[in-house]
Amino acid sequence: MKRVGAWVVLIVAAAAATVFSSSEPLRATHGMVVSQEAIASKVGVDVLKAGGTAIDAAVATAFALAVVYPTAGNIGGGGFIVFRPATGDPVAYDFREKAPAAATPTMFLRDGKYDAVRHHGSHLAVGVPGTVAGLHLAWKAHGKLPWTRLVEPAIALARGGFPLTESFASSLARVLPSMKAYPASVAQYSKNGVPYEPGEVLAQPDLARTLGRIAAQGPAGFYEGETARLIEQEMLGNGGLITRADLKAYVPERRTPLRGTYRDHEIISMPPVSSGGTALIQMLNVLEGFDLAANGWGSAENTHLTVEAMRRAYADRARHLGDPAFNPSMPIARLISKEYAASLRATIRPDRASVSSPTSFEWPPESDQTTHLSVVDAGRNAVAMTFTLEAGYGSKIVVPGAGFLLNNEMGDFNAGPGLTDATGLIGTEPNLAAPGKRMLSSMTPTIVARNGELLMVTGAEGGRTIISTVLHTILNVVDHGMNAQEAVDAARFYHQWLPDTVNHERHGLSPDTLAILKARGHALKAIERQGSAEVIVVEARSGKLAGGDDRRSAGGGAAGY
Ligand code: GLY
Repeated sequence: MKRVGAWVVLIVAAAAATVFSSSEPLRATHGMVVSQEAIASKVGVDVLKAGGTAIDAAVATAFALAVVYPTAGNIGGGGFIVFRPATGDPVAYDFREKAPAAATPTMFLRDGKYDAVRHHGSHLAVGVPGTVAGLHLAWKAHGKLPWTRLVEPAIALARGGFPLTESFASSLARVLPSMKAYPASVAQYSKNGVPYEPGEVLAQPDLARTLGRIAAQGPAGFYEGETARLIEQEMLGNGGLITRADLKAYVPERRTPLRGTYRDHEIISMPPVSSGGTALIQMLNVLEGFDLAANGWGSAENTHLTVEAMRRAYADRARHLGDPAFNPSMPIARLISKEYAASLRATIRPDRASVSSPTSFEWPPESDQTTHLSVVDAGRNAVAMTFTLEAGYGSKIVVPGAGFLLNNEMGDFNAGPGLTDATGLIGTEPNLAAPGKRMLSSMTPTIVARNGELLMVTGAEGGRTIISTVLHTILNVVDHGMNAQEAVDAARFYHQWLPDTVNHERHGLSPDTLAILKARGHALKAIERQGSAEVIVVEARSGKLAGGDDRRSAGGGAAGY
């Protein structure tokens, strides 16, 4: 009897271990992809297994996401890649959308007044897409497998279809009413206006044909010929500005990543036109002066200090950042310097919240529908890639006959000259719309190295909260010793200067911490969730890859071999 009892204890202990392993990351020896969709991550891992590079896998995963995760995965939007080869210098690719040639700083005004529909919800809100050109540029430089091999899985998924998960089916049902004005969108994402049920198969034949042209012709299959004709037709027939000339003129940029350090770790992140790398390094520099590890995760002290670092970085973001081609004298070197961080640190009061300037503005709402993928290959080459349509399903406009969604990224430009006000508009100069200009972004694809070796690939969705989410994942690993899954699971908070509020995931910070923050003068607001992060950590002891898959979104998107 005693013996049986011992076995029962063992079995219960084993079951408990299984339960606790929910905070364990997926581990793999050779290569790994973490994205927001399991099907897309598997496409990427198959490419790695076939001998593809991290860039090959990222390209294939991205095309697959355009089919199976059209909330944010796209060919009609834009994004950024940070690539760190195991040897040699890291490089960044900027394929952010651009304003068309006919854009003006006042294009979102109607009769002299700001018009939110023009800015966020019309054909005028569509920027010239960059994704296809950007993926191709990165592949040309760092890919090994044929381009067609990388697009083919997406073509098969679009042509043959795939069964809808519960969360994708309910997401489509939610977005359908806002697609009513666009018959091609309704046709693509519903059964004649009736939402799909979970488990039903979604096939996208027009998208399969467009992807086929991209596979066969490269970027010319998108920016020229039939696809360009269909985009122009949709634009010019509906008050949009994008012409075939705009499409043909689109070029992605190869950029030098921003580099900083944090407690002997090297931080490699995205330069402008993203604000992400600048603000991230600035916050890390400020926090480096405090002993976050000793204070402990979730302590009032750490939360206070992190909030104050965020407040200052987001204020600088609004003041200084925009497209470098239009803002040649942005003080990036100063913003990410240790000296500037020390001067900011000196302004932080230890026991009192600072006050964000009440004469300034609130931020307008920004969509959290962006998506990130992290990839590491067998040679420990690493890719952090974040891309977006801006809002969920972007402009909601599917290009008739071409089967893909257009972005509404022009909404990331400021509203109009001088329009800064307390209602949520921003009118600061660096990020006003202009012909050929890229709109400011918060996307923060980031790679962390230590002693010259890859440590971590990270990035997130979540509009302006992205920068804070990526910061949390790095602090969780570097200061708090969390594994990849714990770093993703841990509760998050953000402060974006204005409104002057700490937004914290509910049930994340203890009541004691919240009480102390309140006593220090912080305004607190509980939120449901803050973004979704996709993280890979190279574990020190085993050298294995550990994937942190964010269950705040559908989950299941970590795959490795
Ligand atoms: N549209 C989200 C971003 O670029 O930050």
